[in-house]
Amino acid sequence: MNITAQTNICIIVGDPVGHSFSPQMHNAAYEALRIDDQFIYVAAPVSPGELGDFVKGARAMHIKGITCTVPHKETIIQYLDSIDETAQKIGAVNTVVNENNVLKGYNTDWLGILHPLEKETSLAGKTVALLGSGGAARAAAYAVTSKGAKLMIYNRTLEKAQTLAKEFDAQAFSFDERDSVHQADIIINTTSMGLHPHESETPLPKEYITNKQIVFDVVYTGTGPTRLLEEAQIQGAKTISGIEMLLHQGFEQFRLFTGIDAPQEAMRMALMENLNKTDSYK
Ligand code: ATR
Repeated sequence: MNITAQTNICIIVGDPVGHSFSPQMHNAAYEALRIDDQFIYVAAPVSPGELGDFVKGARAMHIKGITCTVPHKETIIQYLDSIDETAQKIGAVNTVVNENNVLKGYNTDWLGILHPLEKETSLAGKTVALLGSGGAARAAAYAVTSKGAKLMIYNRTLEKAQTLAKEFDAQAFSFDERDSVHQADIIINTTSMGLHPHESETPLPKEYITNKQIVFDVVYTGTGPTRLLEEAQIQGAKTISGIEMLLHQGFEQFRLFTGIDAPQEAMRMALMENLNKTDSYK
């Protein structure tokens, strides 16, 4: 252990937070780059009522970097000094950097969607079918429309899809109309279907998926592909796991906290080693 009185603290806060793999990913990266004397990454369960006090404490302790996860990504904004323009547009912050006790909020979740997709295809002119209208859907909507994709949003609560569609110049559909996803080049699932304890659920009958499509499931499991991705593979589609989103948002966050490019393989190995054997996440 190389921790000294000079070591910078980074921390993830959420409610709950115990399932997070961010500490293993970031600490493995510090070790790989031999900067584990300069940085350590820990976690703290912080309830919604405690968030304001937490930010005060983080300022007093000169915490270097904060990762916010559910349910703090929107509510933390009021306690920060400034917000990056992209995080503003998405309406959520998952990364806070402390520069000389000025706390600035960023969003790296959208890059967790964008970078894995761009490894497979260019987005300009493509049609994307987005399932869901929660926080993950907002990051996905920003990612694909920022690169010129046409967006179709499907949600169980139609009004939420309509609100999101207005903001991102997309078309809104009810969840019952999702047979039309066969027209899309890319399908992104951000609903909780497939998420622990609903591993047997899938948001789409497999007949709606074609071998010309890319299917990205933001949900991931420790044990293998989600049912959606398993069936997409059977249909001959290309698939992208939510593990990629977790990794790619983490790579960018690492760079914001340390100023150094992330050691991607070290972070990937740490995540794969630590993925829980039974649960699933998003
Ligand atoms: P996150 O912030 O992680 O995206 P969220 O805000 O809880 O999570 O959003 C969950 C999404 O999954 C919502 O779009 C939700 O639909 P509603 O807006 O109608 O609630 C969707 N969802 C959850 N369970 C679902 C189900 N059984 N069938 C269809 N959609 C579901």
